Amino acid sequence: MNLKSKVAIVTGGNSGIGMAIVLELARQGASIIIDYLAHPEATDALEKQVLAFGDRVIGVEADVSQVADLQNLFATAVKEFGRVDIMVNNAGIETRTSILDTTEAQYEKVLAINLKSAFFGTQFAAQQMIRQGDGGRIINITSVHEDWPMPGNTAYCLSKGGMRMLTRTAGVELAPHNILVVGVGPGAVTTPINLGTMNDPTLLKKLDSAIPLGRVAMPEEIASLVGFLASEGASYITATTVFADGGIMQGSPGL
Ligand code: BGC
Repeated sequence: MNLKSKVAIVTGGNSGIGMAIVLELARQGASIIIDYLAHPEATDALEKQVLAFGDRVIGVEADVSQVADLQNLFATAVKEFGRVDIMVNNAGIETRTSILDTTEAQYEKVLAINLKSAFFGTQFAAQQMIRQGDGGRIINITSVHEDWPMPGNTAYCLSKGGMRMLTRTAGVELAPHNILVVGVGPGAVTTPINLGTMNDPTLLKKLDSAIPLGRVAMPEEIASLVGFLASEGASYITATTVFADGGIMQGSPGL
């Protein structure tokens, strides 16, 4: 129970990697705020799982690409649980569109949900943590594509590259407050964002064979890293990204 007495917000927390992170932090004893935008029934089911660990949990419907919604998310967290110790900026989407035909609306949506939300999520988390006066952890779920090109997914790569520099720069700026800012860079994971590939046996085979470990990750294999980075054992890691990618970045381009 490493995280007993800690309060964690997970954005995009009711599906995919976010859901696995919620369960991992709850397993370690944290109180959880599950941010979600759709599928309230998935949030309800997840809340029950968290309650079974004996932890406190609330679901908050908030569109994290909107600053006002993020503000409300933090206000609710502080009202319900009194503080915020761990902020996981996890919400993300991709359009898988080429630089040649990505529309303005697609560009703005990807950048707002992935990067703007993480920027202001970091800002509000840091303001709250500074008020509390005893440090904190901000964990940005980026991707191997914060650094590694994925042709045909340019806006997504751009957003993740931005998160990489958010992590580094905010990590340095917030270090004097003992607020650690770390990126987690997954490779390919079995989540809704990847359904197109998961449901296409030919594509999946191609993807698996491009991964040195020979398979796509389970969300729990990313969540376990987040659990470690939120814990006392990770007290000297900041302003950098830790990758959990099965070695994919050393292989061929993103698939
Ligand atoms: C992307 C996936 C891609 C994977 C590996 C992830 O960040 O969301 O679409 O398959 O990286 O390239």
